[in-house]
Amino acid sequence: MHGEIEQYIEQMIPKRTELFQQMEKLALQQQVPIMEPTGIEALLQILRIQKPASILEVGAAIGYSALRMADALPNATIVTIERDEERYSQAESFFEQAGKQDQIYLIKGDALEVEAEVKRFAPFDAIFIDAAKGQYRRFFEMYSSYLSKDGIMITDNVLFKGLVCDPHIENRRIRSLVRKIHEFNEWLMGHSQYDTVIIPVGDGVAISKKR
Ligand SMILES: C[S@@+](CC[C@H](N)C(=O)[O-])C[C@H]1O[C@@H](n2cnc3c(N)ncnc32)[C@H](O)[C@@H]1O
Repeated sequence: MHGEIEQYIEQMIPKRTELFQQMEKLALQQQVPIMEPTGIEALLQILRIQKPASILEVGAAIGYSALRMADALPNATIVTIERDEERYSQAESFFEQAGKQDQIYLIKGDALEVEAEVKRFAPFDAIFIDAAKGQYRRFFEMYSSYLSKDGIMITDNVLFKGLVCDPHIENRRIRSLVRKIHEFNEWLMGHSQYDTVIIPVGDGVAISKKR
């Protein structure tokens, strides 16, 4: 969002540990889109309240959000999926550095192709979708069937830098992506089995609770 309010909140967030700062720096240098600071704080707080025993993340990147979740919820098991080779290796190495390789299970591959491996760990109390934005509905439909009875689905980037409200996007690729995100949001908000709220924090976070 990056408005004044967002900036105000961001500068109040306490400094992260050395390792997390190192990961944030690397993400910035290599242009890896890790969750925005206010977005991840909101996510972690929701999870602290919910206290999930198991979490599935779609889109690990270098493992930043998975490690933040592991740190905030030391008793939770986290399964996370990444298809990019280099990011997968970086995530693996960070999990080892943090000594969290027994808490976080990293799956290499396309999330739409590794369902059989993922379901061995099901059910999940929380499922966090943070991967290819044009595929959100497919991720949601595939993995929401592995959600536990009182589980929650969390989806990042649903406001996509505020572009979902911009009627004048010149770039065709971005316009098409924004249309897909908007269609996903409409579908999700009208879903008969979930109550959803979109929180305008970070890049826009949707929280969906099974009815
Ligand atoms: C926004 S980043 C994830 C950031 C991470 N959750 C964090 O905040 O630290 C999205 C990642 O999802 C991966 N990705 C995109 N589509 C995917 C798919 N279909 N299956 C697995 N990984 C995917 C990308 O390679 C990228 O590293």
